[in-house]
Amino acid sequence: MFRLGQSLCTATRSQYGVVELKHLSYAFKNISRASSTNTMAEKFKLPARYGAGEKSVWVEYIQLAAEYKPAVNLGQGFPDYHAPEHVTKALSEIATGDNALLNQYTRGFGHPPLVQSLSKLYSPLVGKNIDPFNEIIVTYGAYEALYSAILGHVDQNDEVIVIEPFFDCYDFMIKAAGGIPRFIALNPKNTSGTVTSADWVLDEKELEGLFNSRTKMIILNTPHNPIGKVFTKHELELIADLCKKHNVLCLSDEVYEWMAYEPAQHIRIASLPGMWERTITVGSAGKAFSVTGWKTGWAYGPAALMKNLQVVHQNCVYTCCTPIQEAIARSMEFELARRDSPDCYFKALARELMPKRDMLVETLKENGFNPTIPESGYFIVADWTKLANKIDLSQEPDKYKDYKFTKKFAKETSVLTIPPSAFYSEPHKHLGENYVRFCFIKKDENLRLASKLIKEWNSKKGN
Ligand SMILES: Cc1ncc(COP(=O)(O)O)c(C=O)c1O
Repeated sequence: MFRLGQSLCTATRSQYGVVELKHLSYAFKNISRASSTNTMAEKFKLPARYGAGEKSVWVEYIQLAAEYKPAVNLGQGFPDYHAPEHVTKALSEIATGDNALLNQYTRGFGHPPLVQSLSKLYSPLVGKNIDPFNEIIVTYGAYEALYSAILGHVDQNDEVIVIEPFFDCYDFMIKAAGGIPRFIALNPKNTSGTVTSADWVLDEKELEGLFNSRTKMIILNTPHNPIGKVFTKHELELIADLCKKHNVLCLSDEVYEWMAYEPAQHIRIASLPGMWERTITVGSAGKAFSVTGWKTGWAYGPAALMKNLQVVHQNCVYTCCTPIQEAIARSMEFELARRDSPDCYFKALARELMPKRDMLVETLKENGFNPTIPESGYFIVADWTKLANKIDLSQEPDKYKDYKFTKKFAKETSVLTIPPSAFYSEPHKHLGENYVRFCFIKKDENLRLASKLIKEWNSKKGN
């Protein structure tokens, strides 16, 4: 508006009428451009139901990694070393092999050899013959399995119980479906001395209080990211009983199923009495075979529940990458043939990760952090409050302390980590602020380098 007023004045006063009229017409053009920009901004703003997903810790911290070029990236959860050779070899053979059809579309709900292998793998584990063609779906990563399960089952105003900290996309997906997340936090029973992930528990009464006639679903994540908790039989039975009592579906995210450290034992909630019929279980080839870039996952459960996932999947993804599915099927068959041997990757993986966990736990303890020792997975959350007097966060613009800490820590140590408040709902973010998440599925040399850098930083600050 201000611009228009100025141009109009000059137009009437100037002897160079033509030129000024040109100004006038520019001004009108500007106005209509501005107002069309405004209408466009208004019309094409992000739909309100997607608001929860606007900020992504992954997008932000991958960008940070590109900017800071940290010497060691212990942020995002992926191995920085090779997957088992038979897995990657299978893919290269398939891509260049004789069967041209293995590079073409395959069955939408899952490549037949893969769903058959998955049925062979899981049937004995849940104590039921899983129908490969009606009770399993292959998806674009576990991520899409979660998406299809949530979008396929959650209706307007349905309530979904989410255990905090949670894999951050749950919140977005529930809201995108029109549902209402109801959060309950795991809290550590003790915060000093040695803390393990088993110390992080739910308040049973609080959990019970969340179930009501509007509850459609509870999302369980066991083994848990980022705490590393493996839910016990007692905890799973409590959840199962509440699901049965209130006719609620359990979406069980079990992508870290092969990474429970003895004596912890991963129990599939679908295997508990009366739970198969109300559970959708999610798995990931990326996690199972250390090939996160293959982005292939699956969900399994009773046909009546899986139907809804099929509807979402067939209308947004339709079919996943054929050669990758074939390679995973062959890898699965390879592991199934040696499933009772200690060499089976599903057993070897936890053995391979345990010393890495211990190495990082030691580093953290020696340098003022109080780590929660995980019983599973490849993350450690560590309390950094004892280091607060060694790091000046006053110039860090972020809202939450853990964001400030992780960014300053990355700048000062060249070790990148993740802020756990990203795994909490807005009102509960303070519960994650005193922690930082480290990923330890990294080469030993990189873990040693992280250890050296953190030690140097700590001694510079005066221990
Ligand atoms: C708890 C949890 N669920 C699901 C996923 C997604 O797995 P995928 O890479 O197979 O999509 C992840 C990945 O980090 C995860 O941590």
